[in-house]
Amino acid sequence: MTKILPFITALAACTFLLSGCKDSNSSRSSSAASPEQNVPLCDGDAITPERLFLQQLGSDRVIIKWRGNRDDDTQEATSVCIGTNPNGLPATSETAAVVTETGHSEAVITGLVPDTTYYYSVGGTGVADPKHTFRTAPVKGALPADGNIRVWIVGDAGTASSPLLDRGDNAGGQAAVRDGYHTWIAANGGEPADLFLMLGDNAYLDGTDEQHQISVFDMYTDTLASVGLWPTIGNHEMGSFGLSQSPLVELYTPVTGVADLPPDSPVPYFNIHTLPTQGETGGVPSGTEQYYSFDYGNVHVISLDSQVSARSEANRTAMLEWVTADLQSSTADWTIVIFHHPPYTKGSHDSDVDAGGVDQPIFDMREQFNPVFEAHGVDLVYGGHSHSYERSYYLSGHTGLSDTFDPAIHTELNSAGDPASGQGAEAYTQITKSGADDKVVYTVAGSSGQATGMTDPAGHPAHFFSTGADLGSVVVDVDTTTLTARFINDKGEVLDHFIITR
Ligand SMILES: [Fe+2]
Ligand SMILES: [Fe+2]
Repeated sequence: MTKILPFITALAACTFLLSGCKDSNSSRSSSAASPEQNVPLCDGDAITPERLFLQQLGSDRVIIKWRGNRDDDTQEATSVCIGTNPNGLPATSETAAVVTETGHSEAVITGLVPDTTYYYSVGGTGVADPKHTFRTAPVKGALPADGNIRVWIVGDAGTASSPLLDRGDNAGGQAAVRDGYHTWIAANGGEPADLFLMLGDNAYLDGTDEQHQISVFDMYTDTLASVGLWPTIGNHEMGSFGLSQSPLVELYTPVTGVADLPPDSPVPYFNIHTLPTQGETGGVPSGTEQYYSFDYGNVHVISLDSQVSARSEANRTAMLEWVTADLQSSTADWTIVIFHHPPYTKGSHDSDVDAGGVDQPIFDMREQFNPVFEAHGVDLVYGGHSHSYERSYYLSGHTGLSDTFDPAIHTELNSAGDPASGQGAEAYTQITKSGADDKVVYTVAGSSGQATGMTDPAGHPAHFFSTGADLGSVVVDVDTTTLTARFINDKGEVLDHFIITR
């Protein structure tokens, strides 16, 4: 698939492996540079995959993963080319793909330079599609050249694949939230996200492969081609209309679709994603795709499995021991934890009610995991499951039902003795009045596809801000000293924010 031009000069050494090729312009936009003279370029046939996404995007590696061809359903791409010049992807960069579960192809690219913009071609041409570009993470502990790490978080987003949900007031809700996010980005400097986190219920109702196509790949096409995707598993990823209580992924039951078949996982979520099990992008190896962690500059992110692993005591204990070790080994400035079932909610689910066992993980995560988060410096916890946005005060020590919540005991207080808002003069500080990094902001961000009201209009007493009526998603920005989190609605308006300084 490559054509070797006759004159191989010293410029040929300027491959994607060498920092000397680094694009001095840190922007993602192409500088439209012309190809280096006499460097052999890739000369394959570019295709437009039906699905294209980036996994395990770290400081020195990425997995480019795809399936299908929108233009020709018989020709599949078998390789990618990559480089720092969009108009001159060198032949030396061509990387063959491996075909993985359910016909996905993935190319594992290593030896990349940190904090550097790359361009790639699926199918391996010498010129990259302008949308097929990403920036590697900065080295562990550092910030990127633009001084800011931006995280986009969507929860329970996958309504577009369900005619049942994508109707009435929520018609087009998922696309509207996506567009609201882009509206806010465009109006505020245009900085794209560095990380894209999905909080589960990513594809309703049963997380089938086809539903993922509609609610993930057709919905976030451009973001997925340029930003690393980091998901967690929700109840709907296990089929059964979201009612599965199975502790085993083998018992995935697709009520509205066809199970992915052995030897692949029966669960489409696991066939689609290639998640780190061996600490490939930092963190302590988890040994399972069901939960994992990674570093991105000075941010450490942990994705836990509250849907499957949490439902067996043995697996839950193993996950708890792993996350404790992972947190103990992390030196990141900021730590974000995601899992689907929120410890505190009065949205479409109620954290005081186990719903016949379906919502038992709410209790187990709150009682067993929250104390670990608070003891080991976690800053933010994000969940979904309730189709609402609910954001807590700066909390510690509350593992009981809502009627045992005492602001004077469980929240950071302002100078007037009331729970601090996290805004303005009441911004939180990572080292609290107790002298420890002992508090966490817990957020339910499950209204990225539908907003389905509150079980208690007053909200959970742990929360500063609650709405069951507003669609939206979350943007978190961090530098070395300041973290700002915003809830952005489907019109691009900020409805809530808070700040933590360190
Ligand atoms: Fe949901
Ligand atoms: Fe859910």
